[in-house]
Amino acid sequence: HTPWPGLIDAYRDRLHIPADWQAVTLFEGGTPLVPAHHLSELTGCEVYLKVEGANPTGSFKDRGMTMAMTDAKYNGKKAVLCASTGNTSASAAAYATRAGLHCAVLIPSGKIAMGKLAQAVMLGAKIIQVDGNFDDCLELARKVTSEFPEVGLVNSVNPARIEGQKTAAFEIADALGKAPDVHVLPVGNAGNITAYWKGYGEYYADGVTTSRPRMLGVQAAGAAPLVNGAPVSNPETIATAIRIGAPASWNQAVAAKEESGGAFRAATDDEILAAYRLVAAKEGVFVEPASAASVAGLLAARAEGWLDAGLTVVCTVTGNGLKDPDNALKGMPEVKPIAVDPVAVAHELELA
Ligand code: F0G
Repeated sequence: HTPWPGLIDAYRDRLHIPADWQAVTLFEGGTPLVPAHHLSELTGCEVYLKVEGANPTGSFKDRGMTMAMTDAKYNGKKAVLCASTGNTSASAAAYATRAGLHCAVLIPSGKIAMGKLAQAVMLGAKIIQVDGNFDDCLELARKVTSEFPEVGLVNSVNPARIEGQKTAAFEIADALGKAPDVHVLPVGNAGNITAYWKGYGEYYADGVTTSRPRMLGVQAAGAAPLVNGAPVSNPETIATAIRIGAPASWNQAVAAKEESGGAFRAATDDEILAAYRLVAAKEGVFVEPASAASVAGLLAARAEGWLDAGLTVVCTVTGNGLKDPDNALKGMPEVKPIAVDPVAVAHELELA
């Protein structure tokens, strides 16, 4: 039994990097594909959750960041920069530390979840709050990195990010022994849907799998440019991770949808919050609100008959619930301490 080597060494023959490059890694990837019994019962499908919150910094971004940071290091970058709704910044900060590079992150002021901010601070990134949204941050990051070539841009517009993130599709197909029929995931800047479609496509082209899934991309209703077919200038949603109005990988996301016979759909904040609570309470998997958008989208799509019973469905839940403690406690009954005596505890458990 050899321990998991991190995704670059696990899938080295399928990634475009020079053979002598040593991975900058925190041993990301190899995340659980968890059978979702309750969701399977609700939908009549065979539903799995790809639990990306199990990555080292708690989100799927680590898959892209191991590649982007290895690439930055070997290309002689001195520092890295990213725009972020929170997870990218936490991941960039961690991997920059491993690589010995400086890291600065541009975040929309006041709109990033507490856990993510805490990570970026602890991991030593320079945090720059921008008076604007994610789209403004990304524009600024692009500008700075084009003027200063010694600073690497580690957003998903960097092709190395997509290369790393495509490995999630490999892992799913490896675990199932086939591609799923439908793949559901939340969409913000649209890097991840691009990456999954690339991964599924490469396995299919090489004959590892005999089919590719239909891709169902779910956006928050207040930040749904791909659903509307036009950018949104003031995106708004409780799912701050996907509060994005002008996805950088727009064309690639549309290609994934069209080539796969898939769809984009919107989930309201209420639907997202309901799915958020359901996945925690019924599946035992605590994800962040943006991640629950995929589950909300699946339930609505099934209710409308967009997918049939009996299909194999994978839902990527992109980030860990611990990232956003404020939203978890909002709307829940206040937690009241209970008396610490055995009878009272047993009573609480409905045993006495
Ligand atoms: N889910 C979570 C938890 C995210 O953090 C993101 C993106 C997405 C889904 C959407 O992925 O952008 O590839 O379509 N977060 C970025 C960030 C924007 O800065 O952390 P996407």
